Amino acid sequence: MEYKLRKAEPKDVSDILRLVKELAKYEEMEHQVTLTEKELLEDGFGDTPFYHCIIAEIQGETSNPKVVGFAMYYFTYDPWVGKQLYLEEFYVMDEYRGLGIGSEILRHLSDLAMKTRCTGMMFVVAENNEPSVQFYKRRGAEDLSQEEGWRLFRFDKDSLVKMATPAEE
Ligand code: ACO
Repeated sequence: MEYKLRKAEPKDVSDILRLVKELAKYEEMEHQVTLTEKELLEDGFGDTPFYHCIIAEIQGETSNPKVVGFAMYYFTYDPWVGKQLYLEEFYVMDEYRGLGIGSEILRHLSDLAMKTRCTGMMFVVAENNEPSVQFYKRRGAEDLSQEEGWRLFRFDKDSLVKMATPAEE
């Protein structure tokens, strides 16, 4: 099947949100997705993009191409080793899996990591997502929770509000 990879454009936000929701559903956490197309548009395509996306699309049966997969990523910094690429979301629609699209997306991101002199690509995988754990491990990924004992934490908004400077009356 013919597909191509390209950088996401503002017109892609509805497809990005659709795929974000599909991945959340796959992970049985769909109810946690509250993001809107408006926020995706502002956050990814303004003066300071908070994320980047690579889109996989196929030529549809009609003339319109169809977005069938994506990766969302950004750059982070590790004070021990420097620049890192952070893979936030990675998803290919069920009926298009196993065709090499995911591997091609990872190739694209690896090329980008080399070009930008990143020393690694970080990501989090749900513990029960065994097919993806194995997909990453077959490509050489190390399980840092197991090997180095890191734990994933978050302050939610309520905790932040409690710690933040109180709003002036
Ligand atoms: N479905 C899945 N995998 C299949 C299928 C199938 N129907 N048929 C074969 N496979 C095998 C392939 O042979 C290949 O094996 P390999 O690892 O030995 O090469 C592998 O599974 C799939 O390779 P690709 O075709 O290159 O990748 P694909 O286009 O299927 O995309 C992805 C991989 C993104 C992980 C996809 O399976 C997916 O969307 N899974 C569900 C969502 C998910 O778990 N995403 C990752 C979450 S973690 C994160 O986002 C950081």
